[in-house]
Amino acid sequence: MPHIRIRDLQKHFGDVAVIAGLDLDLADKEFTVLVGPSGCGKSTTLRMIAGLEEASRGEIWIGEREVSRLEPKDRDIAMVFQDYALYPHMDVARNMSFALRLARYPKAEIDARIRRVADMLSIGHLLDRKPAALSGGQRQRVAMGRALVRDAGVFLFDEPLSNLDAKLRNQMRAELALMRKRVEKNMIYVTHDQIEAMTLADRIVVMHAGKVQQQGRPEDLYRAPANLFVAGFIGAPPMNFLPVRLDSRDGRPVLLGRDYTLPVPPARMAALAPYARRDIIAGIRPSALRQGRGPEGAPALTLHIELAEYVGAQSVLVTRCGGERVIVEVNSEQRLAGEGEQPFWFDPDSLHLFDPETEAAIR
Ligand SMILES: Nc1ncnc2c1ncn2[C@@H]1O[C@H](COP(=O)(O)OP(=O)(O)OP(=O)(O)O)[C@@H](O)[C@H]1O
Ligand SMILES: [Mg+2]
Repeated sequence: MPHIRIRDLQKHFGDVAVIAGLDLDLADKEFTVLVGPSGCGKSTTLRMIAGLEEASRGEIWIGEREVSRLEPKDRDIAMVFQDYALYPHMDVARNMSFALRLARYPKAEIDARIRRVADMLSIGHLLDRKPAALSGGQRQRVAMGRALVRDAGVFLFDEPLSNLDAKLRNQMRAELALMRKRVEKNMIYVTHDQIEAMTLADRIVVMHAGKVQQQGRPEDLYRAPANLFVAGFIGAPPMNFLPVRLDSRDGRPVLLGRDYTLPVPPARMAALAPYARRDIIAGIRPSALRQGRGPEGAPALTLHIELAEYVGAQSVLVTRCGGERVIVEVNSEQRLAGEGEQPFWFDPDSLHLFDPETEAAIR
C-alpha cells in the first residue's frame, strides 16, 4: 500500500490563498485525520488529493507515482463525500456494487466483496433493503461500504458522520474505530470534531487558516501542543490560558499574574532564560487542577467557583481567578461541597507555556 507525500501544495481562489503551502508525509496504512475549524481548507485539501480540485501549485505523490496532474479516476483513490447520495431505486447490495458492476467484475467476486465489507460495517442483514428503509446511520454506512468494496489504495472521507445526531455519531465513531483496524488501507479522514480526530486517528494533522499547525499522534498533540492554537483546539473542555510575566521572588523565578502566582516548571527553566521580565501565556488543562490543598509545597490557585455543571461521571466547574475564567474538570464522586473561593492545586509539570507573540510553545 502506498504512502502519500505532499509538497508545497497550494490553492488560490483569485488572489485569496486558501491553502498557503502544505507539506505532509502520511505513512502506509495509516489512518490520518485532518482536523480544524470550519473554513480552514480541509475539504479543499482532500479534493486536491482526489483530483476533483486543481492545485494552484505543488506535488502530490502516492507511492512512487506523482498523481498531481492525473485525472481523478487514474489516482487509485476512493472518496466518501459529506453529502453522499445513494441511488434510491437500488437496494443496498446494488448500491454497494455499482462501481464494480460498471467495471465488469465477475459476479462471484462482487458478491464476496460485498459480503466482506457489509459484515465489517454491520449492514450484512440490510443488503436487500432500499435506502428509504434505512436509518441515517445505516445509510451512511452504505455510503462508506460503496467506497470500501473498491480496490483503491487510498480512501478519503470528508466529514462522513456530519449528518448524524449526537448519539448515532458516537455509535458510528466507535464502529469506525473497530472497522479501521480491519481495513488495511491508507485512509484520510476529514472532520472539524477534535474528539472524532482523537479517537480515530493514528496521526492527526491540525489545520488552521490553510496551514498545518502540528501533526502527530493524538497523545503527542494532547501532551505537547506546539502552539496556542493546537493547545486550545485539542482537548475538551479546552485548556485554560493565564497571562503571566516571568519575574523573581525571593531570588527564585516565578510566573506572576495579576491575581495569582504560578511556579516555573523545573524542566522549563532553561527554555525560559530569554523571557526574563517578559509576558508569557501559561496554559493549564481543566483536568490538571485538583480541588484542595495538595501535598506540601504544591502550587496553589485560589479559584472563585461560579457554577458547577454536572455532566455525569465528570463535573465542570466554571471559576474565576482574578479577571480570568478558569474551567476545572473534576470527578463527580470526589466533588467537594462548597462555593465561592476554594483552593486548588496542580503539578507544576502540567503547566504549558507559550510565547504571546509567536504563539509557539516554550520548551
Ligand atoms: N470556489 C471557491 N472560491 C472561493 N473560495 C472558496 C472556494 N471554495 C472554497 N473556498 C474557501 O476556501 C476556504 C476553505 O474551504 P474548505 O471547504 O476547504 O473548508 P473546510 O475546512 O472543509 O471547512 P468546513 O469544515 O466548513 O467544511 C473557505 O474559506 C472557503 O470559503
Ligand atoms: Mg469541508
